[in-house]
Amino acid sequence: MSGGKGTVSGLEARLARFSKIGLLTAPTPFERMWRLEKHLGGPKLWVKREDCIPTGSGGNKLRKLDYVLAEAVSKKADVIVSGGVVQSNSQRQVAAAAARMGLDCHLAVFHGRVARADSSYEENGNAFLNRLFGAQLHPVAWNGDRNAALYDLADNLRKEGRKPYVVPYGVSSGLGAVGYASAVTEIARQAHDHGFSPDAIVHCSGSGATQAGLIVGTAIALRHTDVIGIDIDAEPERVEADVLRYAKEASAMLELDMEKNRVNVVAGHSGPAYGVPHEQTIEAISLAGRLEALVLDPVYSGKGLAGLISLISQGNWSADQNVVFVHTGGAPALYAYQDVRERLSRTGSEVGT
Ligand SMILES: Cc1ncc(COP(=O)(O)O)c(C=O)c1O
Repeated sequence: MSGGKGTVSGLEARLARFSKIGLLTAPTPFERMWRLEKHLGGPKLWVKREDCIPTGSGGNKLRKLDYVLAEAVSKKADVIVSGGVVQSNSQRQVAAAAARMGLDCHLAVFHGRVARADSSYEENGNAFLNRLFGAQLHPVAWNGDRNAALYDLADNLRKEGRKPYVVPYGVSSGLGAVGYASAVTEIARQAHDHGFSPDAIVHCSGSGATQAGLIVGTAIALRHTDVIGIDIDAEPERVEADVLRYAKEASAMLELDMEKNRVNVVAGHSGPAYGVPHEQTIEAISLAGRLEALVLDPVYSGKGLAGLISLISQGNWSADQNVVFVHTGGAPALYAYQDVRERLSRTGSEVGT
């Protein structure tokens, strides 16, 4: 575990060159999913609990924000600008971090990417938490451009004499990926404590920097671990291109040679569209709840686990191999999808244990 540059200590040393604001005070939990593993018939299944990061209901973006917002501080920003769809976990985590930092937060809220207009979707879950954390919301029509409206918002604030710092959609950038590589140091040490090195890390992939961070982190600290991103955007080519871009940028920042063949984005588990759960998503959320008391969501982590279950059923791993599922958070969105909760109430009793 210790020693040269191709080790966990090597990754930690490279990450130590970057500033952080200190949103994470301890490694997130790493647990065996005994009952899900038994239900599925192996391999050995572990979960990395990024949903337990202790700010604003947790989630994977906080790990990226720890590094990204340090840049905002160094640039002496007085307002944080970001954006996302109505039920974006990303912007909720930006709002939470900004609140803890004592900075104003303005969010461009995209309407129309997800074709829903029920009051539950518009007002519950992340939409409510954004307001609770004091963010100012600016409704914007979705036009497919994830970042232009954020920069427009920042320009307007600049005209008012403010010093905005733009956190990109999904907190995805080279620096965001560097921040997420820190998850690999924890996974490597926690797996080592349990006496193994993971055969694969599986998670859901959207704006790309989570997977990019896992790729560059494992390239240094867990060279024999596959990183498998489950596309939840129904845009696997776009996801793959973004993962590669951020992984290249993060590699340069960490002084690492990027190997293109480490990018593995798996299609076919996103359901019909972004934000629309399919039957396998509902089943995965139900299984995780009933067997492991994990709260997954209909947009991200539920689809990620649905993808993992499918890969297991296709025989991708033997019973003695170790697979880590990254629970990237997202539970607040569950409270915004009333129809999903109704479907879950129906399927719950049908899951055999
Ligand atoms: C709960 C959750 N999981 C996974 C992801 C995907 O991470 P990334 O956008 O870095 O690919 C997101 C992104 O919004 C998310 O909110």
